[in-house]
Amino acid sequence: MKNMTITTPDIIRDVWQETAVPPPSAPLIVDITARESTAMYYIGRQLVREYGSYENPAFIATLHLNAYQLLPERIARILSHFGTDYSAGQYGAVVFRGLVQVDQDDLGKTPSSWKDVDYDKLKAYGFISSLMHGAVPSKPVQYYAQRKGGGLLHAIIPDEQMSHTQTGSGSRTDLFVHTEDAFLFHQADFLSFLFVRNEERVPSTLYSIRSHGATDEVMRPLFRPLYKCPKDANYARDAAAGEEVSTAVLYGNETYPFIRFDAAEQIHNPDAGQSAEAMHYLEEFWKVARTHIYNDFVPEAGDLIFVNNHLCAHGRNAFVAGYREEKGVLVPCERRMMLRVMSKTSLIHIRAVTKTDDPYFIMEEHYGNVFR
Ligand SMILES: [Fe+2]
Repeated sequence: MKNMTITTPDIIRDVWQETAVPPPSAPLIVDITARESTAMYYIGRQLVREYGSYENPAFIATLHLNAYQLLPERIARILSHFGTDYSAGQYGAVVFRGLVQVDQDDLGKTPSSWKDVDYDKLKAYGFISSLMHGAVPSKPVQYYAQRKGGGLLHAIIPDEQMSHTQTGSGSRTDLFVHTEDAFLFHQADFLSFLFVRNEERVPSTLYSIRSHGATDEVMRPLFRPLYKCPKDANYARDAAAGEEVSTAVLYGNETYPFIRFDAAEQIHNPDAGQSAEAMHYLEEFWKVARTHIYNDFVPEAGDLIFVNNHLCAHGRNAFVAGYREEKGVLVPCERRMMLRVMSKTSLIHIRAVTKTDDPYFIMEEHYGNVFR
């Protein structure tokens, strides 16, 4: 009998390929080997010696070269792939477990707030975080909207004075999931969170639009530019700049979209100014979205979470800063410390909102309006 080949019509194959990938419900967790983490340790020390600061223009100018030459190849490959993978199976966050070795004694006590942080102690972490972005490749940037700039590396520490608000310094109320700076057109493309201390054992909250699978009827209305997003609680609510602007929550590809979303500001803020229609669509979406929130990973010192800010939102649980539960009893401990870097893949596309003398410094205040 003649050998027969059965061919599948293209349309059936496409459908099959789409349904073959189950929607991802958790980030990829990469366990860093002892050899890799030792390499990271020496890379950090070498770069501190060579450049002094991770903000040294000579380092920034050679960031991608350094990233590909210095990072362990497996890590560089994962990040390079992550930078261009927006597929059905890509969750949008990768946990690099045990990336760096943190000397807790050298770190000292957790400062009372981010304003009291000694950044000299964090130099090596700044270099390593920057290299991770460099491998995507993406460029570390700072935003005037966050701490008026405040450098390329931000220490995020729970601050007792701010524990009831919805900013990264808060701790007692639920900080709902959000993509970073959802009130900006030029929000970060990638984020990294390097945990140098998490004695409270607070889980890290993540939520990916990919967990919904392909666009469905609940998601479709979110492509319409109907939605307001107030500036977040880091700000005084005096300036009205940008408040008239409504945007889409979902954008990019129609089937597997990107997301710009802040549950606290867009749904739970009574001053958001959503129309009844917009609020209805947001609430229907949130009913489904909240079932996809991932809360199972408890970062340890040395873990770095790398996030595509167009695919994956972040947040965290309520927790009592400076205490951890042991056998049902709250025992005092050092408060959490996390180091954040944000980056953009193109400085050209943000040039209209960056400082004249610093293309890495974003001055956007609220949806295209620029700080004067
Ligand atoms: Fe955030």
